[in-house]
Parts: sequence; structure tokens; C-alpha cells
Amino acid sequence: MAHLIAPSVLAADFLHLADALDIINSSEADWLHVDIMDGQFVPNISFGQIVMPFLKKGSTKPLDVHLMIEEPIRYIDEFIDLGAEVVTIHIEADRHLHRTIQHIKSKGVKAGVALNPHTSVDLLDDILEEVDLVLLMSVNPGYGGQKFIYQTIPKVKKLRAKAIERNLDFHIEIDGGVGLQNAGALLEAGADVLVAGSSVFKSEDPLLTIKRLKSISSPF
Ligand code: DX5
Ligand code: ZN
Repeated sequence: MAHLIAPSVLAADFLHLADALDIINSSEADWLHVDIMDGQFVPNISFGQIVMPFLKKGSTKPLDVHLMIEEPIRYIDEFIDLGAEVVTIHIEADRHLHRTIQHIKSKGVKAGVALNPHTSVDLLDDILEEVDLVLLMSVNPGYGGQKFIYQTIPKVKKLRAKAIERNLDFHIEIDGGVGLQNAGALLEAGADVLVAGSSVFKSEDPLLTIKRLKSISSPF
């Protein structure tokens, strides 16, 4: 199965958001990654419900919404109503992960769980059957443009081994510091969705960068 590319709109020029979305729309990207930050779970505040309708209207790609917020259950229905097609919440931000995952799926969208760099994939052992996607943070969440944490690679391998052993087909998405320099290694390790913010939007030719990310061969 070909891997998916999800450019992160956080790195776009918001003065020219429509142009940025047009580029993504005409590209080989699969999803548009949308980073929602609350200033509590992560130090930064990004954007929220006010911006979502514009992203929904301007994007032809499914919205892959990454909720970096405490107690995400408070906002999940709202983001789904605003057009999220993948909703990912953090394991560190929700005391009732199983219930929240069931709730997201009951709304007919994909449910993802995200792990910070320090969080072991072993903590997912009792929920893996339930999730559509696992997002491994490869930087500390809160900001775009950070340096990739290499310890992510063995985490991806370990998670892929669990998926194979248990015959599960959830997505493994990697988020933070991903670009042409490490995409091959991540796919080789078992990832199948790559989020790319700065490496796409700050590149000279975003369309070409997406094409290159998409054309790397993937064993899974
Ligand atoms: C970080 C966000 C990422 C961010 C990635 O907290 O979750 O999605 O946009 O940006 P880059 O690709 O620039 O590291
Ligand atoms: Zn993200």
C-alpha cells in the first residue's frame, strides 16, 4: 500500500492561505494536517474553530485534525461538525482514551491516538484493536520547524512489529521534523503516513517536494 503525505498547514503563509491550499489541492498530497493547540497541553496556541471552516472550504483533501488540547472530548464533536475526517487526540491528555476513541468512531470518522516522544508505544497494548491511526510525535509538540528526534525510528519499528504480530492495519503517522532526509528511513521502519510542515511549505517548490516524498518506495 502506498504511503500517505499530509502537509501541515501550520507552516503555511496565513496571509496567503488560499494559495497554500491551492498548492496542496493540486499536489499528490493525501490529507491536510491541521494542528490545533490550546496553550495548555502544549505551550503554543495555534488556531481553532474560527479557521476550520475556511480550511474545509479551501481544501479538497481530507482534514487530518491533530488535537493538542487537554480533555479533547470537550471539543471533538465541534471539530467533526466542522469537517474533520481524521481526529487524533493525545494519550497524555485524556484519562478515558477508550471511551473517547469509541466516541470518535461512532461519529463516522477515523480515530487516532498521538504519543509524545517520551511515551512508550507499549502503553497502547490494550487499545490497539480500537484505533484507526497512531501518531508518533517526532518532536515535542507545540511548534513547527523543530529538529527530528531519531529515537522515533525504533518506536516506529516496535509499533509496526505489534501491528504485524496482531494482524492490525492501523496507520502509523509520524509528525515533526519530517522531510526528504528521513522519510525513507521512517517508511522503512514501518510508518505509512508522513506529516510534513516546514519541509513542504518552506521549500522552494512545495509541489515537487510533495512529489518526491510521495515517490519514495515503501515496504508496507
Ligand atoms: C507540532 C505539530 C506538527 C508540525 C510539524 O506540534 O504537531 O504537525 O506542524 O511541523 P514540521 O514538519 O515543520 O516539524
Ligand atoms: Zn501535528
